[in-house]
Amino acid sequence: MHGAKPIPKSFAASGPLRGIVRVPGDKSISHRALMFAALAVGESRITGLLEGEDVLATAAALRAMGADIVRADGTWTVHGVGVGGLMQPETALDMGNSGTSTRLLMGLVASHPITATFTGDASLSQRPMGRVSDPLSLTGAEFGASPLGTLPLMVRGICPAVPISYRLPVASAQVKSAVLLAGLNTPGITEVIEPVPTRDHSERMLKGFGADLSVETDAEGVRTIRLMGEAELKPQDIDVPGDPSSAAFPIVAALITPGSEVTVMNVGMNPTRTGIYKMLEAMGAGLTYRNEREVGGEPVADITAKHSALKGITVPPEVAPSMIDEFPIFFVAAAMAEGTTTASGLEELRVKESDRLAFMAAGLTAIGAKVEEREDGLTIEGNSGKPLTGGAMVVSALDHRIAMSFAIAGLATEGGLQIDDMSPVATSFPGFEDMLSELAGK
Ligand code: S3P
Repeated sequence: MHGAKPIPKSFAASGPLRGIVRVPGDKSISHRALMFAALAVGESRITGLLEGEDVLATAAALRAMGADIVRADGTWTVHGVGVGGLMQPETALDMGNSGTSTRLLMGLVASHPITATFTGDASLSQRPMGRVSDPLSLTGAEFGASPLGTLPLMVRGICPAVPISYRLPVASAQVKSAVLLAGLNTPGITEVIEPVPTRDHSERMLKGFGADLSVETDAEGVRTIRLMGEAELKPQDIDVPGDPSSAAFPIVAALITPGSEVTVMNVGMNPTRTGIYKMLEAMGAGLTYRNEREVGGEPVADITAKHSALKGITVPPEVAPSMIDEFPIFFVAAAMAEGTTTASGLEELRVKESDRLAFMAAGLTAIGAKVEEREDGLTIEGNSGKPLTGGAMVVSALDHRIAMSFAIAGLATEGGLQIDDMSPVATSFPGFEDMLSELAGK
């Protein structure tokens, strides 16, 4: 696991970035593919799975609860235990850095007659889990956590659990999914009401696995998701598309580096994930989408980005959930734009793998950008395409997306920059630095 030994690295201005690359599989879909396959009866096969530390933590936990998961020639084969068939893990489940693994698996365990303890690294151990244990407690499951509601945390599942109707108080696909996953092994209808839409991979994939799930959207855009338990899941073959969150790094790198043209193949284009591309286009980014198609029930395209003169914008707060993981790299694009960029309504960024508003503001300021940090967002005065000063050491704070965002920012500095620790990148983007070198022709 990363974090054992920091890996400091320097990044400096590069010539034009050119080439055609792929990024690893979608992290959200990879976690769900393993979990749903582990609950199906029979053999599922998964290709394109993200083989990063976060997803490997999910695989290890599912194995510890009885699923048979093997990898051969890049294909992952899963023999599921069936809904209701998860077994008591013998030791604590180590979730590493992965909030998605923790929160979704808490949902699964809640409606099984087992007890599991979740542990994690220093970053994950600071993240709020009450947002998941609160609704799951209503089903009858019991939770024991440290006083602040953080890991280490024990879940005592209950079977049969009580089906609940839950209105999400925060826009969170993880909370939505945890409640739905508990509903899989709960007799009756589990309902989640989602006032602000978040990524809908759980809904799409559960339907694909044969669950009885419906989604209703009212005139105000409020979504009501109903899942009938106990569900029977049928094994599936899944091809995981490239992660739009990972693709944002080479794409922003091309947009801010003069002379660049980069194509990223096979990128997921689910509308609940593409806010970053819409906002970059609103800034004047030259993006082209080709070969638009469906892969595994998800829209996919090849995206080409050309160096562009970006202009500052105001990001509407309602767009935030569809680009929630992309704000760190978006702030780098904003620092290179002409004019002011303002983004608000981003309180959730303070409880991600790090406090992303604080660490992005601090790092960007250290390399010469003009940034104002507010409680719920940032305002950035762009440098009109001119390189930032650089010359500083920035902190990645056990956060893969902070590390990768500053690696890209380094390309747009006069003096380069140093990152104290690049090891977190292994959670979501193995091969990130090799991809950058390939695009720079090094
Ligand atoms: C995810 C949901 C989001 C996102 C995370 C992955 C998911 O978290 O930030 O990287 O796979 O459901 P929240 O639900 O906390 O917004």
